[in-house]
Amino acid sequence: MDDKLIIPKHVAIILDGNGRWAKKRGMPRNYGHIAGAKNLEQICEDAWDLGIKYLTVYLFSTENWKRSKAEVSALMELFRRYMKTSIKRAADNNMKVSVIGEISAFAPDLQESIRKLVDSSKDYTGLHFQLAMNYGSRDEITRAVRKLAARCADGSLDPESISEEMISQSLDTGDLPDPDLLIRTGGEQRLSNYLMWQLAYTEFYFTEIPWPDFHKKDLEMAIEKFNNRDRRFGGVKEE
Ligand code: IPE
Ligand code: IPE
Ligand code: MG
Repeated sequence: MDDKLIIPKHVAIILDGNGRWAKKRGMPRNYGHIAGAKNLEQICEDAWDLGIKYLTVYLFSTENWKRSKAEVSALMELFRRYMKTSIKRAADNNMKVSVIGEISAFAPDLQESIRKLVDSSKDYTGLHFQLAMNYGSRDEITRAVRKLAARCADGSLDPESISEEMISQSLDTGDLPDPDLLIRTGGEQRLSNYLMWQLAYTEFYFTEIPWPDFHKKDLEMAIEKFNNRDRRFGGVKEE
């Protein structure tokens, strides 16, 4: 890859297309989720290699509970295994893992594994890998509004003093920088309730490639396209 390229500091991914990838191979959807989880491990290393500092991935949305019972429980089983193996992987790769979303909806043992992973990796200084689990932007914003409203109700916050920064801070992503680049694999071109506040000025990159087939060269391609964009943030381009 051209070493003069600007590397986005924070990349957000909607890893989509696992089910269709499996179906094309005559396999059950869960086979695609297993391949997708494997691919995610590789992409974390590739992202860090390329100079990306923050990677936020969508693992399970607040709407994904509507899937069949069998698929949801297969995903939960996969998450259980993934949290456990990630503890060692995070240690080996100096990777800090954090989670956004409402994890209290998960089974207690899974919540415990998530906490262990987050806690054991909190001081690592390599890639900051953020997992969106039972995450939905509307839910995240609703929870943030409730927190602020409670402070207004008890008199510790003046509604007039609520600022954009305060709202950002109240979201699950806290003080993490906003994503520079959003990638959605699998061909759909929508946000599916992902990071709607945080993506206000993010560049979007959509690809037909299903998640299990999305590899380092595809990430490089997304970064190249990102470099051809003309980011403005409401201003005009400096000549
Ligand atoms: C994304 O792949 C993974 C999750 C949402 C958990 P899908 O399962 O949505 O795969 P498709 O979109 O049906 O192919
Ligand atoms: C978005 O994918 C959620 C995740 C990747 C976890 P979906 O496959 O659930 O989104 P829709 O239903 O196609 O919008
Ligand atoms: Mg999908």
